[in-house]
Amino acid sequence: MSFNIAIDGPAGAGKSTIARKAAEALGFTYVDTGAMYRAIACYLFEQGIAPEDTAAIASACTGADISIRYENGEQIVLLNGVNVNDKLRTEEVSAMASCSSAVAEVRQHLLELQRSLARTQNVIMDGRDIGTTVLPDADVKIYLTASSEIRAKRRYDEYISKGQEADYDEILAEINERDERDMNREVSPLRQADDAILIDSSYMTPEEVLDAICKLVKEKEKE
Ligand code: DC
Repeated sequence: MSFNIAIDGPAGAGKSTIARKAAEALGFTYVDTGAMYRAIACYLFEQGIAPEDTAAIASACTGADISIRYENGEQIVLLNGVNVNDKLRTEEVSAMASCSSAVAEVRQHLLELQRSLARTQNVIMDGRDIGTTVLPDADVKIYLTASSEIRAKRRYDEYISKGQEADYDEILAEINERDERDMNREVSPLRQADDAILIDSSYMTPEEVLDAICKLVKEKEKE
């Protein structure tokens, strides 16, 4: 039987950083479901489909065959057999993913891949609906969040440290907009599962969050 950890939460809460580190510490496989949604978005963008054209997204998404493999512990997303990791973080893809991930057919298209990964190995999977929809029987469920102001500040600092320009107010507005869309969409909205443990990382270091998660997992493993 595999042991599954679900981490959900809003954009910028630090889910992927923490999940990656926890996977390393626990010897689990890290599954980044956001990257899968981004790979479909990349395909839709390349097909010239508009983010608001829900009907076209619903019918075209089946043409995107998504699979993943691991190289030195890093998740590689293959779109129709081609590694697209380098294309997943652009503005266009983020904007498309935010719209296309709200389309039921897109979510259905990825569900079986996500579930099958968790069936066959110990995974720590992050996303928006892992604890509520994808892995409702996960052994440990975490809802990782932080205030939108702190998430915006973290993102702002990240841009500045890379020597890029950034506008804090603009970033904050984008984060609030994204939260609103993720939490209020009809299919699989972002919400804390009833049995998920809330971790508010606003005033915690990444190490403290990691420690808290590893403790929860160890306790559960003992049961
Ligand atoms: O976590 P991320 O920013 O890489 O996610 C990209 C997009 O996919 C984002 O708009 C939210 C969406 N997403 C989702 O709807 N469900 C998931 N399980 C993961 C991501």
